[in-house]
Amino acid sequence: MKLKILVIAGDGIGPEVTSEAVAVLKEVATFAGHTFEFDQKRIGGVAIVKDGTPLPDETIAAALNSDAVFLGAVGGNEFNSLPADKRPEAGLLKIRSILGGFANLRPAFAFKELAVNSPLRPEIIDGADILFVRELLGGLYFGQPREWDRAANEAWNTMRYTKAEVVRVARVAFQLAQKRRRKLTSVDKANVLEVSQLWRAAVIEVAAEFPDVTLEHQYVDAMSMHLMNRPRDFDVVLTENLFGDILTDESSVITGSLGMLPSATLGGKVNLYEPIHGSAPDIAGKGLANPLGTILSAALLLRYTAGLETEAAAIEKAVRKVLEEGFRTPDLARGNPQGLTVLSTTEMGTKVRETVKKLLAK
Ligand code: NAD
Ligand code: IPM
Ligand code: MN
Repeated sequence: MKLKILVIAGDGIGPEVTSEAVAVLKEVATFAGHTFEFDQKRIGGVAIVKDGTPLPDETIAAALNSDAVFLGAVGGNEFNSLPADKRPEAGLLKIRSILGGFANLRPAFAFKELAVNSPLRPEIIDGADILFVRELLGGLYFGQPREWDRAANEAWNTMRYTKAEVVRVARVAFQLAQKRRRKLTSVDKANVLEVSQLWRAAVIEVAAEFPDVTLEHQYVDAMSMHLMNRPRDFDVVLTENLFGDILTDESSVITGSLGMLPSATLGGKVNLYEPIHGSAPDIAGKGLANPLGTILSAALLLRYTAGLETEAAAIEKAVRKVLEEGFRTPDLARGNPQGLTVLSTTEMGTKVRETVKKLLAK
């Protein structure tokens, strides 16, 4: 198998976590006899500084010419006063829209070993295994008009969806639910918003194609509470762009740390893989970042872009094994460091890489 992977590491902890995931992918390539070619380009704050734009044309061309794009994170406090369309985050939104992936899969899985790291009781989170499907190209993020009229002291964004946009992401979510526990929870705000009423009607229509999947609807405010109270009741959770952004960060409480959550964006010209966390300026450059969410994103790349299920599963198993053996980055060692070995970003990456190698050699 030959794969061309474009790495856009970005800002803050982005380069630290992506280099660990790339090292794991290189290990997999060597061991399983694949050829993975890596190219690196700029995005976000580093691109603003070097190229004067958060998404240089060179990055776009390389991304469209690759089999998969692997992203770290973008953003930094020094860019906070820039207008929304000039910020590092605008580069991320633009590459998402150019690549065209609309279904952002964000699995949130409660590792038993990390239960102690969650403020939720172990019996609440034990066994929780949720697959969020976040619509990634619509809603408030992309709706027009949008503006901050400074003179008028007024600003507006537009939450907009077409039925076709809802239908295509709903189909992906139902198909994924068919391969899991066959339950789909669609999250909206249909008690208030017209756009959510359209969302709900479209999801109900798509549900008719999937009679084996049980569909339920939740309002987003109640859902944010249900997720914390009874996370095991959810299988696939389908929602629009902004609700999905918020609910998935909230779900990191179930998994023990934001640094544990990977993502895969499917359905466009080229798939995009990235952890769900940001550039974490508060810990950047200190070797404190947890690379596991990014490494798990590499597993998703192997699964969804390359169909290399054995290799993808080996990475996921290696992450589990390293946790079972008591290795933790600092974010995973809060409150209970006894008996655990706290590792730096690179040390954790190395542990996973060595474990993947052993698993693949078996
Ligand atoms: P963040 O996700 O960067 O960090 C939130 C908190 O979680 C911080 O305390 C951070 O230290 C911690 N954290 C995040 N990832 C971690 C990891 N891998 N290991 C250990 N701890 C981790 O969110 P924020 O602080 O709200 O935003 C910082 C910047 O990142 C902003 O500019 C924001 O726009 C950007 N951002 C980018 C992305 C992305 O590129 N996909 C996602 C979210 C936020
Ligand atoms: C994420 C991030 C991005 C989003 C930002 C940085 C544009 O928070 O990937 O979750 O809101 O989608
Ligand atoms: Mn987010």
